[in-house]
Amino acid sequence: MSLTMTLGRHILTAQRSVPDATGTLTGLLYDLALAGKVVAREATRANILESAQASQEPKASRLYRFADATFIHLNQRTNRVGVIASESHAEPISTNIEGKYVLLLDPLDGVSQTDYTVSLGTVFAVYRRLADGPEGGLADCLQSGRNLVAAGYLLYGSSTVMVYSSGHGVNAFSLDPGLGEFLLSHEDVRIPSPPRYYSLNHAHDDFWTPGSRRFARYLQGKDSTFPGGLSMRYTGSLVADFHRSLLGGGIFCYPADTIYPQGKMRLVFEANALAFLAEQAGGAASDGVQPTLDLQPTSLHQRTPFYIGNRELVQMAENFIRLHEPVRPGDNP
Ligand code: AHG
Ligand code: MN
Repeated sequence: MSLTMTLGRHILTAQRSVPDATGTLTGLLYDLALAGKVVAREATRANILESAQASQEPKASRLYRFADATFIHLNQRTNRVGVIASESHAEPISTNIEGKYVLLLDPLDGVSQTDYTVSLGTVFAVYRRLADGPEGGLADCLQSGRNLVAAGYLLYGSSTVMVYSSGHGVNAFSLDPGLGEFLLSHEDVRIPSPPRYYSLNHAHDDFWTPGSRRFARYLQGKDSTFPGGLSMRYTGSLVADFHRSLLGGGIFCYPADTIYPQGKMRLVFEANALAFLAEQAGGAASDGVQPTLDLQPTSLHQRTPFYIGNRELVQMAENFIRLHEPVRPGDNP
C-alpha cells in the first residue's frame, strides 16, 4: 500500500503524460471515486439504517436506488458528461450538451444478495461522445468496446477497492476509511499465470449446451488434458468474482443457457468494462466465439454469454464451444 500515491495524484500523474489532456477525464474519474465512497459508506451501514428506518422498502432495492442516484447525481451536474446510461433506466439520460463523455453504469451489481452481506460492486465505462451522435445519445451508448476511453469498478467488500484503466494498464486503489482516501494497493496489475480459480454456477448445468458442460468438466479436472483442474469460487457477485480472477488468476463464466439464451451479463453495462480491464491486464474476455470488445452492441440492455480471465482459459472455452456447439441457442441455424 502506497501512502504517497493517492488515487487523485495517480490520475493527475497519468494525465500529465497525455499531451492534449484537458483534465476532463481526470475530473470524471475523481467524481466516480467520490460516488464510490458515498455508496461504500451507505452499503456498510445498510443493516443499521434498515432497522432505524420505518420504511417498508427492502434493503436491497433501497441501496440499489441510492447507488444509482448517487452516481448519476455526482456526474449529472458537471460539464464533463453529456450522456449517462444506467442498467436501472430503460433509456439514456441526456445531461449536459457540452459534456464530451458518455458514462455507462451498473450501479450496484450483486444487489440481490445485500441481505447476506455479500460483496457488491459498481461497474463503469466511459466513451467519448460521437461528434454526430443524435439527440438522446443512444448511439453514443452503443459504441463498440474497442472505443472505450476508461473503465473500471468499485468493489464494496472487506475493503472498498477502485480498479480502473484508462488504456495504460490496470491499477487498484484501496480505501483507507480513516483518511477517506483511495491509496494505490495494486500497481500495474497483470493476471497471474498459472490460474488458480474458476467461477461458474454449476446449478445451471442442466440448462447448458454440450460445449459449456464439457468446458465445466475441463475446469473441474475431469478432462484428461487438464488433470487437477482449478479450485471453484463463486459469490454470485460478478465484480467480486472477477476481482478474484484478476488478482489470483482464473476465469469467470456465465454461459448461454436455456433460461438465458443470450447469457445473463449485460454487454453495455457490465461485460465491456470488465473485458477492457482483462485485456489491459494481459487477459481476455469472450462471448465464447469472439472477443467481447469486438461485439457491436445493438440495444442498450442486451445480454451476452461471458468468459473472462486468463487468456489461455478463455481461448480454451472458445475451443470447447467451437468443437461441441456449432449452433448456439437463440441462433438461427
Ligand atoms: P444481481 O445484481 O441481481 O444480484 O445479479 C447478479 C449477477 C452477477 O453479478 C452474478 O455473477 C450473476 O448475476 C449470478 O447469477 P446466478 O445466480 O444465476 O449464478
Ligand atoms: Mn449487474
